[in-house]
Amino acid sequence: MEVSTHSASTPFALHPTIFVIFGITGDLARTKLLPALLALYSKKLLPPRFSIIGFSRRAFTREDFRDFIREKMDVRPGEFKEEDIKHFLDHMSYEQGFFDSALAYTRLTERLKTIDDRWGQCSNKLFHLSVPPNLYEGILQNLAASKLTLPCDDKSGWTRVLIEKPFGNDIETARSLDKLLGQLFDEKQIFRIDHYLAKEALQNIIAFRFTNPMFEPMWQSEHIDKVHIKMHEKAGIEGRGAFYDPIGALRDVGQNHMLQMLALIAMDMPASFSSDDIRSERAAILSALKKIAPRGLKENVTKGQYKGYISEPGVPLQSKTETYFRIRAEVDAPRWRGVPFYLESGKALAESRVEISIYFKSGKKKSAKWRSTKKKIVPEDQNILTFRIQPDEGIKIKFFVKTPGHGFNVEPKTLKFKYADVPSFDVIPDDYERLIRDAFIGDQTLFASTDEIMASWRFVTPILENWKSLPLKIYEQGAKEVE
Ligand code: BG6
Repeated sequence: MEVSTHSASTPFALHPTIFVIFGITGDLARTKLLPALLALYSKKLLPPRFSIIGFSRRAFTREDFRDFIREKMDVRPGEFKEEDIKHFLDHMSYEQGFFDSALAYTRLTERLKTIDDRWGQCSNKLFHLSVPPNLYEGILQNLAASKLTLPCDDKSGWTRVLIEKPFGNDIETARSLDKLLGQLFDEKQIFRIDHYLAKEALQNIIAFRFTNPMFEPMWQSEHIDKVHIKMHEKAGIEGRGAFYDPIGALRDVGQNHMLQMLALIAMDMPASFSSDDIRSERAAILSALKKIAPRGLKENVTKGQYKGYISEPGVPLQSKTETYFRIRAEVDAPRWRGVPFYLESGKALAESRVEISIYFKSGKKKSAKWRSTKKKIVPEDQNILTFRIQPDEGIKIKFFVKTPGHGFNVEPKTLKFKYADVPSFDVIPDDYERLIRDAFIGDQTLFASTDEIMASWRFVTPILENWKSLPLKIYEQGAKEVE
């Protein structure tokens, strides 16, 4: 059971907290977690009493650890004041241990207790699993066996756990991980990270949809022709071969980021903006995704691999892992009947661009009388609403205007809103900064619930089970599209 001493009037930021990072020497800690914690620290959004304990296998002296973190932490020169970095590092310490060694957890328990004793208070504990997914189970078991998952008494200090994606490898492994988590933690203590949910432009989809009622009546199959969700990346796998190859694009970004984007576009209006209501609407849409049967696979799914992928470090020469996929998905709900949702993602493509486009049905079909006027209408006369998630966050709407002159021709124009054009919108918070802060305050809105995870695996697993039957298209690096 989670126990918290935070009354509504006590700012969360004041309660002492210890943040334990399993796998502190890995890339995620270096590139995301530590810079985000440093940013929170420099904005004074961490409690005055906080401590970060890095846990990993490598042997370090205290000084070596400090130097290692200072050198590896991915922050731009001048991004933070040297003084802030120095004080931030003072809050860090290191615990060496093997993830499967019970003794290491005993030592960690003692370390946490020493800090609590020094503070004279039972602190909050946040555990982050920044390790390959095959290590989750062992770490969670050991955490539980050492009683670190329990609050230190029944009046103060919560314990929470942050788990990274991929959450399982298919429905079965996700279920068994979820079962284990359920035995060890209360749902309120589990924070399953999908960092896409924390992207500002994704959160704006909810704000835009539900605070601009003019779009709501159009948000359905009668008016929407198709939805295209695109996550193109220019970079290849960038040395992550050993991690990426057993996973592939569909598990890496399809089961999570892409489906979460679909959920935000397709979900019904939640009863309130509370975490539970938003999560349950997202889960309802994910549960309504139509499974793609083996016989429909070729027609609805494409997979590809970029040329040169098999020469990447850590990738076997015979690898058939996909670095690209395109899926035509459908949502089995009255509002979305017959509307295709195209999910398309790939690495080593022409440009990095994440965007969601809603194509409205052509006005031309409206009436025969209109068609019979033979006025010249441009061929693609569809209104398109596009949410640009990154880069150049914004929204644009394609619409048509009459070309000035004696004839009656129309041409497309675009209404655009770019975050960068609004000075106060220019600073977009980092995804991990938001997630860590939300985990501190116990807000689970931007974290995937167990229902969402299971529903997305229920959709993806049948595709993966027949994955081998699909041809693998080899595409050029830098390709604009994959045929
Ligand atoms: C991660 C994937 O979850 O998301 C990566 O593992 C991918 O393969 C990354 O590149 C994309 O995230 P972002 O925030 O850079 O768009």
